[in-house]
Amino acid sequence: MGRIRIVLATRNEDKVRELRAILADLPVEIVSATEFRDLPPVEENGATLEENALLKARAVHRFLGLPALADDTGLEVDALGGRPGVYSSRFAGEQATYEDNVRKLLEELKDVPDGRTARFRCVAAFVDGETELLAEGVCEGQILHEPRGTGGFGYDPVFYVPEKGKTFAEMTLEEKNRISHRSRAFQRMKELLEQYLRRDKR
Ligand code: IMP
Repeated sequence: MGRIRIVLATRNEDKVRELRAILADLPVEIVSATEFRDLPPVEENGATLEENALLKARAVHRFLGLPALADDTGLEVDALGGRPGVYSSRFAGEQATYEDNVRKLLEELKDVPDGRTARFRCVAAFVDGETELLAEGVCEGQILHEPRGTGGFGYDPVFYVPEKGKTFAEMTLEEKNRISHRSRAFQRMKELLEQYLRRDKR
């Protein structure tokens, strides 16, 4: 199988760490977008996770001329009709911190009783100028009333996974990576990339 360089289209170091671990055994060289200082920021103005993931991967591919992988994640809360969804990073405003977003989520849910079902949905996109691949991963859980745990990032302290009896923030990176939306999307993407690289060699 040919060894190609793929740029991960993200500057989020938390994510780079997770994705490097997930993709470690793929026969490709993974480079982080943080290594390219002059990459212009991409406006994530798509209406869906698919559109945003493709926007990011296409922009990086266009700018660097290298195959690019991007992802977009949304937290879908049933009691909020699927919000914040594609707006998860901006839930409490354009400059919102992770804490601001969690606070807003708990505030909006304050009158909703236990068992507040939700899911993280992640879409991964690969773009190399000829081929575009999309893969989705989902992780089901519930939103707690108060944060628990110190690991992870984003909504992790309030995202509880009943089968594990823990929030994402109470799991080690390895535990989270075994079941997370992002790892599921990228496991699937890994299969698609393996097929794609094999086809390329024929
Ligand atoms: P992004 O599309 O991966 O940047 O994710 C959008 C937003 O969803 C982030 O700003 C986080 O608030 C949240 N998010 C994404 N992935 C996770 C995760 O694994 N745990 C907790 N929050 C996440």
